[in-house]
Amino acid sequence: MQTAICPGSFDPLTLGHLDVISRAAGMFEHVVVLVVANVNKKCMFTLAERAEMAREATRDLPNVTVDTWDGLLVDYATRYENPVVVRGLRAVTDFEYEFMMALTNNKLNPNMEMVFLASNEKYMYLSSSTVKEVFTYGGDVSRFIPPTVNEAMRKKAKGRND
Ligand code: PNS
Repeated sequence: MQTAICPGSFDPLTLGHLDVISRAAGMFEHVVVLVVANVNKKCMFTLAERAEMAREATRDLPNVTVDTWDGLLVDYATRYENPVVVRGLRAVTDFEYEFMMALTNNKLNPNMEMVFLASNEKYMYLSSSTVKEVFTYGGDVSRFIPPTVNEAMRKKAKGRND
């Protein structure tokens, strides 16, 4: 069975992420949405919260599972034979970072292929950071994220303000 891993911080998962995950689910027998504890980012949600949001958002995709990981992506990938990592590419701005990661990962584990899906034009501008910024200043983010994620963000904010 060919497994694709869709790794990311997903803080929070956006409609852009969901689009890439759904497309990967149509191409591979099994897709793992891997919620990663990214040391370079200060996250709004815990790893467990991010995973729960990803689970809710992908509930209707039967061949998608969600897992968490606090380590190197190449180490996680060793549990699968010929693993493929799928990442979305939004624009030129993503390219340098993604290329650097792909080449580094390739040095660490040449058996792990990385493939890139061109972002759906509807979501080219969308990022988790922008969603958080708009949300933090009271803007409506419902058009950028799945309803269940919107609910989780509201709960989080309420918890902070209580
Ligand atoms: O959603 P993000 O933050 O752009 O995802 C980046 C992520 C989590 C895929 C990347 O940081 C990652 O793979 N982290 C795991 C640790 C690792 O393997 N680092 C080396 C990357 S070259």
